[in-house]
Amino acid sequence: MSTRTPRIQVILGSTREGRAGEQVARWVADLAAQRSDVDIELVDLRDFPLPFFDSPTSPKRALSDDPRVQAWAAKVAEADGYIFVTPEYNYGYPAVLKNALDHLYYQWNDKPVGFVGYGGIAGGIRAVQQLRQVVVELGLVQVRTQVLIPKVFAAFGNDGQPVDGMHAKTASALLDEVTDWAHILLTKRDAASVQELATASA
Ligand SMILES: Cc1cc2nc3c(=O)[nH]c(=O)nc-3n(C[C@H](O)[C@H](O)[C@H](O)COP(=O)(O)O)c2cc1C
Repeated sequence: MSTRTPRIQVILGSTREGRAGEQVARWVADLAAQRSDVDIELVDLRDFPLPFFDSPTSPKRALSDDPRVQAWAAKVAEADGYIFVTPEYNYGYPAVLKNALDHLYYQWNDKPVGFVGYGGIAGGIRAVQQLRQVVVELGLVQVRTQVLIPKVFAAFGNDGQPVDGMHAKTASALLDEVTDWAHILLTKRDAASVQELATASA
C-alpha cells in the first residue's frame, strides 16, 4: 500500500454568480484540511474556463492542444482523488461540470471520487445519481458515502458550518473512504508505471 500522502481535490461544480456552492466547497475543503492524512486543494471551475467540448477526437485518443484544456488537464493530473461538489439544476448536475469531465480521460483514470450534493428539497441527490453513471466511464472509482444538503440557502450558519451537525459526520466518513481508495489506487497506478517502464526498457 502506498505511503505517500494522497492529494485530494475538492472540485466546485458551480460557476454562476451568487452560487451557494462556494460555501459548501469551502466547508468541505476546510474540514478535509484538518486531516493530516491528505493534502487538500479547492479547485474552482471558474479558474478553468473551458471551451464547450467540440474536439474532433475523443480525449481517449488525443488531448486538445487548446491551452485552456491543457491547463485543466495539468491541474486534474496533479490529484490522487476528488470530491465533486455539485448543485442540482433541473434534476441534474451543471453543464459546466459535464464539460469539464468530458474534456479529459486518462487524468481521471484509477482515482477515487466522492460526492457532495446540495440543492432544494432533494439535497442534490438526482445530480449525484447522474454523476455516478458518468464517472464509471472515466475510470473513476466512486465511494458509497455521499453528503446531501437540502435547502442549501438555509443550511449554513454565520460561522460557515452546516446547521445540521450530521453533515460533518457524513463528510468525515466520505473523506475516510476517498483517502483509503486513494492509497489503494496509488499503489495500482505506481505498479502500472513500473510495468510500463520495464516493458519500454526491455
Ligand atoms: C437553473 C436551476 C435549476 C434548479 N433546479 C433544481 C432542481 O431540479 N432541484 C433542486 O433541488 N434544486 C434546484 N435548483 C435550486 C438549486 O439547487 C439551488 O439554487 C442551488 O443554490 C444552486 O447551486 P449554486 O447556487 O451553487 O449554483 C435549481 C436552481 C437553478 C438555478
